[in-house]
Amino acid sequence: MSDDPAVELEARLEEQESFEPPASFVEQANVSDEGIRERFAEEWPECWTEAADLLTWDETYDEVLDDSDAPHYEWFTGGSLNASANCLDRHVANGAKNRAAIKWEGELGETRTYTYGDLLNEVEAFAASLRDLGVEEDDVVTLYMPMIPELPIAMLACARIGAPHSVVFAGFSADALATRMNSAESEYLVTCDGYYRRGDALNHKEKTDNGLRGVEGDVETVVVDRLGDELTHFLGEHAHDYGELVEAHEGASVEPVSRDAEDMLFLMYTSGTTGEPKGVKHTTGGYLAYTAWTSQAVLDVKPEDTYWCAADIGWITGHSYIVYGPLALGTTTMMYEGTPDYPERDRLWKLIEKNRVDTFYTAPTAIRSFMKWGTEYPERHDLSSLRLLGTVGEPINPRAWKWYYKHIGNEKCPIVDTWWQTETGGMMVTTLPGIDTMKPGSAGPPLPGVDAQVVDANDDPVEAGEAGYLTVQKPWPGMLRTLYKNDERFIDEYWREYSDPDTDEWVYFPEDGAKLDDDGYITVLGRVDDVINVSGHRLGTMEIESAIVGVSGVAEAAVVGGTHDVKGEAVYTYVILEDGQEPTEKMRERVVEGVEDAIGPIARPEEVIFTPELPKTRSGKIMRRLLEDVASGAELGDTSTLRNPEIVAEIQAQVNED
Ligand code: PRX
Repeated sequence: MSDDPAVELEARLEEQESFEPPASFVEQANVSDEGIRERFAEEWPECWTEAADLLTWDETYDEVLDDSDAPHYEWFTGGSLNASANCLDRHVANGAKNRAAIKWEGELGETRTYTYGDLLNEVEAFAASLRDLGVEEDDVVTLYMPMIPELPIAMLACARIGAPHSVVFAGFSADALATRMNSAESEYLVTCDGYYRRGDALNHKEKTDNGLRGVEGDVETVVVDRLGDELTHFLGEHAHDYGELVEAHEGASVEPVSRDAEDMLFLMYTSGTTGEPKGVKHTTGGYLAYTAWTSQAVLDVKPEDTYWCAADIGWITGHSYIVYGPLALGTTTMMYEGTPDYPERDRLWKLIEKNRVDTFYTAPTAIRSFMKWGTEYPERHDLSSLRLLGTVGEPINPRAWKWYYKHIGNEKCPIVDTWWQTETGGMMVTTLPGIDTMKPGSAGPPLPGVDAQVVDANDDPVEAGEAGYLTVQKPWPGMLRTLYKNDERFIDEYWREYSDPDTDEWVYFPEDGAKLDDDGYITVLGRVDDVINVSGHRLGTMEIESAIVGVSGVAEAAVVGGTHDVKGEAVYTYVILEDGQEPTEKMRERVVEGVEDAIGPIARPEEVIFTPELPKTRSGKIMRRLLEDVASGAELGDTSTLRNPEIVAEIQAQVNED
């Protein structure tokens, strides 16, 4: 035993495998009914009226779930509502006009606060502007913007007039923008001149213009002037200034369009196993009810809170838990434009102190960076306003969990490790913070009403202690309804039908591996398909491979994820050059540039390994598993089925050399 209390505490934490929710949290938790899981199971699917009741409906629904055309499940059928009216008008009408809806901070420190009243006014003005530009109900509007308030404003303006939005992450490349706009046949785009990253003004307009060159047909474009004199830009034909439009429509009153519960609220493109991104379709009723319910039950959101999800709205986490869930509940949601280490590594903690943030939700990759930077940064700030912490996007290792618990939460905040996906719309597997014991590294039990099970290769449930495939055996309100214009792929990739004489059931496969713990908790192990997870960002290996093969001089490429201390996984590329090409530094740079141009800097390869051949089986299939082992420095698996086993040692030697 050490005499030093800090060392002793550290040692105790290291050994501790489970944590109870702190009493101070339990007393005030939104969900405290320990029987909620049994209740939801007994009352399924009617249990989900509890989620629908968080919303204001224009027309109440006739049926909670219509499963007559499975797996095309429909939720709250016959109901109608508007998402922007649920996020704005009803709060303004209920006396929250002057409550802050969005608190925004730019990277250079400027701030903007929009009350619910302000937000409604600007949303109406922009909705009227969009209509003037010709946007009609069901037209897809693409939003290519960084973390500035005009992004959620544009989302809500689209929702108000029944035009689905398709947000493209601002860090994606021009090519990625064009692919997504063409796929959605989107004729409207909202973008901005630029934004700040580590103090530099980035030119986003130029990237947008390059993207638009690859889009078929004319696109009406709205440009937000974020940078003013810092970066001048010119508006060409079909381009309009956001500020001028909003000014011209100030005071406009735009009646929210009543949408059927099953009408599309938005499209979100995500990566899959082929090179073609998938347009995940989410609906108005089920999605909004589900994000509101999970925000309340899991993130314990209360209207008087200042709540901060430090994700980017360009990904599903930002859609569900910066914009729709929190605003549907009428809370104050924070947005920060920049990076966590600018100007110093205490930026996030400074923001928490200054805004008295109650709940903080981030990704394990960020927590691993904070750990690396050291405790001195959070220690500079008073983080005592925090009541709850959350993580999302990738498995969290117990060490990072405990660091977060101790150094950010001061052992007073429960942590929710929330497993879900773009496709699920909202959280699926996580502890409920006021009820459940927490086990670092394990996401927890499925949420009430969610039938998640781990199954083996024969699709039978595994025994406790065993690993298998994660499945969801019953539908849920936030589920994707289809892949835009690709319903066949929706059914093929996600669903399997079981038709024994008694049941005709469809099971959802998220393509994740998981372990079932003795107590029914689920430890998510990671993807079982060719999708990798870099810093919580989902990337398809095929997309990266096709970008590399597009570089002249490259004959073939294989991309895998290798383990990485901070990013979780990193992109490893194995490249075969055409005859006569040399594996020079220049060539390496061209490969990296090729990936950045096709996707964006997030997909930047960690390593480019030139090799004369790839390890292949006798039937000619690339043995990715071996390439992953090499990238992760792991012991190599069986190489006996290879046609060219000698190549593995050669590649391995090269990686070690690098
Ligand atoms: O592999 C799982 C991982 O992220 C994938 C979904 O990525 P995306 O659609 O981009 O959505 C990320 C944000 C919801 C999943 O298939 N994942 C997500 N959350 C967790 C996770 N893996 C382990 N633990 C989690 N909490």
